[in-house]
Amino acid sequence: MKILGLSFGKKNANSDILTKEALYGAKEAYPDAEIKFINTQRLTIDRCIGCGACSMALERGKDNNCVIKDDFQMVEEEIRKADAVIVAAPVYVLQPVGQFKNLVDRFSCRHDVSAINWVLDKRRNGEMPGDPDAFPQERFKRRTVSYISVGGASTENWTSMGTATLHLFGFPVMMQVVANYNANSMGTIGNPYLDEELIGHMQEIGKRTAAALEMAPEDVEYYGPKGNGTCPVCHQNLLTVNGTTTVECPICGIEGKISIDGDKLHVEFSEAQQARARGTFAGLREHTTEIQGFGAICGPKIMANKALLDRQMDRIKNFDQYISE
Ligand SMILES: Cc1cc2nc3c(=O)[nH]c(=O)nc-3n(C[C@H](O)[C@H](O)[C@H](O)COP(=O)(O)O)c2cc1C
Repeated sequence: MKILGLSFGKKNANSDILTKEALYGAKEAYPDAEIKFINTQRLTIDRCIGCGACSMALERGKDNNCVIKDDFQMVEEEIRKADAVIVAAPVYVLQPVGQFKNLVDRFSCRHDVSAINWVLDKRRNGEMPGDPDAFPQERFKRRTVSYISVGGASTENWTSMGTATLHLFGFPVMMQVVANYNANSMGTIGNPYLDEELIGHMQEIGKRTAAALEMAPEDVEYYGPKGNGTCPVCHQNLLTVNGTTTVECPICGIEGKISIDGDKLHVEFSEAQQARARGTFAGLREHTTEIQGFGAICGPKIMANKALLDRQMDRIKNFDQYISE
């Protein structure tokens, strides 16, 4: 069993300590486990530039590697090798630090299990070039993940999108979320070692993230706050509202019905909605199907309006000239 700890914090600071304690917990329970720790802070993980080279390569029968060459490739390789991943990131302005999102944009989309399988099916039936069996099967192996959000603020409201945003890392790859922890209050705790309970939670998270690999997915009990009755899939406490009693979990993209009893709020997410959460194959496939249709919708529109678009795009390409006229 290979367990990877990824910390986006400062070297030897809070995120490192919490990640390493989780790894110690895993190692204690599974002495044979292969442990790897990476601190990303000084690594160069540039942003995705949206060039589309990865998708095009996949459609041409190749692997969908990222064409930007930096430290990302090393991190990607370690994630691919791992069976379980512990991710800890500091909250910078309510969300995980930006470098984390750079990793998500370059890693998670390209490992979308539905999108890759969609292409492999096309290879199988001869609609796209490439040998489907040559595609690295380790991409689809079962993985578990746990998220630790680290914040200085004593109030949870200053870490409001910490753990929720961390969930974006693993859902396209269908990693099973085992645990989730909002380690806020670092500003007053001083050092995680001054909070024994916190360290205990980290070790438990490490142990459970590893142990889950030996269990059937449905037997894994989620370890973490349950979001006060909000989404039963990701257990985060965010809701998108639209002025009706229908609300949506912004992480899982599923609809629920809200009801209020006195000052208690209840949200009912049907089984059917839960079955189409973003981190399920069905949920990912909805999006694959949607984006595959874009070309057929936009291609004819663009062709029919070519003269207009050429004229308007000139204003964009030569903006400095137009704006100073
Ligand atoms: C630019 C910046 C913004 C921050 N914003 C928040 C914030 O919105 N909420 C919060 O709780 N902590 C915030 N913090 C505090 C860090 O989350 C906290 O110090 C954390 O322990 C840093 O992680 P590390 O010790 O692993 O480096 C911020 C820190 C920095 C440098």
